[in-house]
Amino acid sequence: MVNSDKQPPIRRRLDPRPLAQTGHCRLEVLRRLAGRPIVGHADLDRDEVIELCRLAAHLESTEVASHHPLDGLVVITAFFEPSTRTRLSFESAALRLDGKILSVPDGKVTGIAKGESLADIGEMFNSYGDLLVMRHPVTEATEEIVEHLAIPMINAGNGSGEHPTQALVDWYTLLKWRPELASPTPSEDARIDLAVLGTPGSMRAVKSFTFAALHFRAAIRSLTVVSEMADPFGPELAAAVEASGIDVRVVNDLDPPLQDFDVIYQNAIALLGDAYKELNDGCRLSADREFKPGAVILHPLARREELDTSLDRSEHNLYFAQAAGAVFVRQALMVSVLDRLGRLPDSFSERPR
Ligand code: CP
Repeated sequence: MVNSDKQPPIRRRLDPRPLAQTGHCRLEVLRRLAGRPIVGHADLDRDEVIELCRLAAHLESTEVASHHPLDGLVVITAFFEPSTRTRLSFESAALRLDGKILSVPDGKVTGIAKGESLADIGEMFNSYGDLLVMRHPVTEATEEIVEHLAIPMINAGNGSGEHPTQALVDWYTLLKWRPELASPTPSEDARIDLAVLGTPGSMRAVKSFTFAALHFRAAIRSLTVVSEMADPFGPELAAAVEASGIDVRVVNDLDPPLQDFDVIYQNAIALLGDAYKELNDGCRLSADREFKPGAVILHPLARREELDTSLDRSEHNLYFAQAAGAVFVRQALMVSVLDRLGRLPDSFSERPR
């Protein structure tokens, strides 16, 4: 008997196989990342972003644990600012590849509480681990610690700076959703009208997402940024967006309407000086609003009132699948930076028959 009250299921995963089937992994591209710090958008070019996403798709669709890719390596996750997804997905990613974790879930449990410098903590990390994944509330903290590191570092979010692995998570999600976005010549049907609800200049996840979007400029028909700020991009991103040739609009409120967009990227809060500013009411999304059929919403989470739970069971929810895919794209990055691509099954780099 059909239960008419049954609610639609929540989409928690996106099938990685269509992206994996776009080709074999070009591991020679990813070998360039061995030992390199990943601090911001400039540390990954288009080829590297696409190949990391493709490797993630292979990792998500293949059993690799038995190959122990990170066997014998220690990843330090040092989070001086709270996190649910980034720290836990990095740790899950490493543990599932047989790596080991040294976890600092709160800076207060380090010598910082006694006035120790970040530089000295960096010196200690050199002896205790093979890779540092660090989040810090101070934008300059990544630059400061990198100078003292002999091991590679991945930036897991620095103040109002960047969140480069969130951008990888976001574009991995979009490439799984529509693999043709990675094509240098996507069909007109595959191209997207993209809305960003937030202020890229002062929201690190939105900034890294928007920088990464420029790698996919051929696939973006238009970019609309909805922000109350007069200059939402900041000088570096504004220049890059202008140079991209993408058709860009900046508006204060959601006008043009939501039905115009295939992809809506939303974030909760912007850092303005020392304070946080939430999105205005006009940027709130709920199932009551009218979306384009098939449109998808991404959100790095954590959410607040701006993204209503009424959307969780809708076709527009891509944000839970986005969070789930984080494990695999972070695996792809760690295996590359830690120079363990050679431990992956041969099938990853073989051309499809
Ligand atoms: N997306 C993201 O950075 O989430 P967390 O703050 O929970 O790590």
